[in-house]
Amino acid sequence: MKPQPGSTVDTVRDFWQAHINNEYYTDAERASEEYFDEIEHRRYDTHYHLPALFASLDGQRKRLLEVGCGIGVDSIQLAGRGFAVTAVDLTENALAVAGQFAAHRGASIDFRLGNAERLDFADESFDAVYSFGVLHHTPDIQKSIDEVHRVLRPGGTAYVMLYHRDSLVNLVHRVLRLPYESPVDRTDHCPVVYTFSRRGVRRLFRDFSAVTVRAEYPFTYGFGPLTTKVPMGIRRPLGRAIGWHLMITAVR
Ligand SMILES: C[S@@+](CC[C@H](N)C(=O)[O-])C[C@H]1O[C@@H](n2cnc3c(N)ncnc32)[C@H](O)[C@@H]1O
Repeated sequence: MKPQPGSTVDTVRDFWQAHINNEYYTDAERASEEYFDEIEHRRYDTHYHLPALFASLDGQRKRLLEVGCGIGVDSIQLAGRGFAVTAVDLTENALAVAGQFAAHRGASIDFRLGNAERLDFADESFDAVYSFGVLHHTPDIQKSIDEVHRVLRPGGTAYVMLYHRDSLVNLVHRVLRLPYESPVDRTDHCPVVYTFSRRGVRRLFRDFSAVTVRAEYPFTYGFGPLTTKVPMGIRRPLGRAIGWHLMITAVR
């Protein structure tokens, strides 16, 4: 997908200020107990690959930077696994909710405004970087991946999710001309949505010493009950073949 003409980090910020991610999972009042519970439950019910990832990282007690944390739903999980989490996002609106979410869950997280293309941290500041569904929305994605590389210490690991070009979800969106980030309004397009082949990912991460790429998550929100009702014995292998999420592990 080419960015919409004239897209900049500012137009991306405007879009995400108006679209707080994960809110489509709930009708509850923003930042209420029910809102947090429902989002957490439905996110990890659909994103079956995330709890397994977090469990695999348990107890590392390292410095982790999350880039594009949104409302902090994953930041809280990572803090719960022992990481000292710093989390940045482009938008004040999401960060305001993230602060309330972490307080509800008793998690201590350093949330800050920040831009993935120009991270405000010294070289080699973190042992790990996590970024889920973010960097494919920033106009200069290569710059943002170079920034991830810069702030990681040598031997540190990046865990990144980027959208998969060769996926069922992408095919459906292209054929039906659906917007990628707005499940309700078909005219509401996110300014920047890049998708990648596995080979394209390897090009982006060429400065890292070891890179693995695995596809997951065959259906997305708009697929309704398919997203949760298809048995895992089918969902998982289908995800590995034509999933929407390329789960990347890259060692600096
Ligand atoms: C799809 S949401 C994902 C949020 C969160 N990672 C999650 O999975 O719920 C994309 C987020 O990326 C943030 N974002 C987009 N471009 C960014 C950039 N250049 N720097 C920092 N955050 C950015 C947006 O503000 C938005 O909160």
